[in-house]
Amino acid sequence: MASKTVYSNFNPIRLLAQSNPPTQEHKATARSHAHKRLSTRYGPWAVVTGASSGIGREIALQLAKAGLNLVLVARSQQVLEEMAADFATRFSIETQVLAIDLAQETAIGRVEAETDDLDVGLLVAAAGFGTSGPFLNTSLDQELDMLNVNCRALVGHCLYFGQRFAKRGRGGIVLMSSIVGFQGLPNAAHYAATKAYVHTLAEALNVELAPQGVDVLASAPGPTNSGFADRADMRMGATLKPTDVAQGTLDALGRRAVVLPGLLSKFLTYALIPLPRSARVRIMGRIMHGMTKHQHTEQQLHLNKQ
Ligand SMILES: NC(=O)c1ccc[n+]([C@@H]2O[C@H](COP(=O)([O-])OP(=O)(O)OC[C@H]3O[C@@H](n4cnc5c(N)ncnc54)[C@H](OP(=O)(O)O)[C@@H]3O)[C@@H](O)[C@H]2O)c1
Repeated sequence: MASKTVYSNFNPIRLLAQSNPPTQEHKATARSHAHKRLSTRYGPWAVVTGASSGIGREIALQLAKAGLNLVLVARSQQVLEEMAADFATRFSIETQVLAIDLAQETAIGRVEAETDDLDVGLLVAAAGFGTSGPFLNTSLDQELDMLNVNCRALVGHCLYFGQRFAKRGRGGIVLMSSIVGFQGLPNAAHYAATKAYVHTLAEALNVELAPQGVDVLASAPGPTNSGFADRADMRMGATLKPTDVAQGTLDALGRRAVVLPGLLSKFLTYALIPLPRSARVRIMGRIMHGMTKHQHTEQQLHLNKQ
């Protein structure tokens, strides 16, 4: 009896259809479900730092498509104002611009003051930058600025919005970590250290804030084609698209603690996992040496001229 039921359900055409890649219609339906999930769980307002470029900009775009109102934070006021006007028109959402240097000590207080009267349900802390090259050649001012943006401002925002979200019993926090934070990274030693800080903080908060209805995610991408490499004076080879990083990140929010968005992030991480940590440090250091080779050459040319 049982085997007859199985046989009568066997439909090779349906099975073939199921194994076909999703159609445009399926993709659109899946996106619309994803947007609904974002707006009901994390709306009505989201604060996105680093919204003027790269990953933060793409995350802001996806949230606008999902119908969340946005506070866009970064230094580039004109870029943010153009984005805010464009999103408000295209997606019928409310937008606010907060042009601010997050390296300044007063920045955390300003973000708090400007968002105090909004019903914020999501913080995306994507503002960040890197430094690269030999550690002994760097300037302390630049490294402390990076520490302030990547870690100090970020922990301030986590505490402030974490408390607000816990009080309302619902919310989400996305922290941009990186695959470079999984071990030491010669030639970008301090940048990798800031990302290890962000990653560890996110992992712990994911567990600690879950009972209060707050979802915390560490998103750890590999090299991504954004404004990052130019500012860090690095030359990247294969890269991810910011749009893929943004989508992978938002899809993972509320479902896990850590995401490696995109195939390249997964490949670069899983290929090294079986190795001892000390070997990973040396391999990643060699990769970073390749990305900063021009700095060593320029330095040599400079020395030769003297
Ligand atoms: N690209 C990668 O390969 C990669 C890989 C892993 C992780 N990440 C992380 O992903 C995040 C986003 O980087 P991205 O790739 O999108 O780089 P990006 O295109 O350079 O964007 C960085 C964003 O941070 C903002 N920002 C930088 N310094 C700031 C400051 N002092 N005050 C306020 N905002 C500031 C920038 O805005 P303004 O310049 O307008 O201030 C910009 O919006 C960073 O945390 C980065 O560490 C990047």
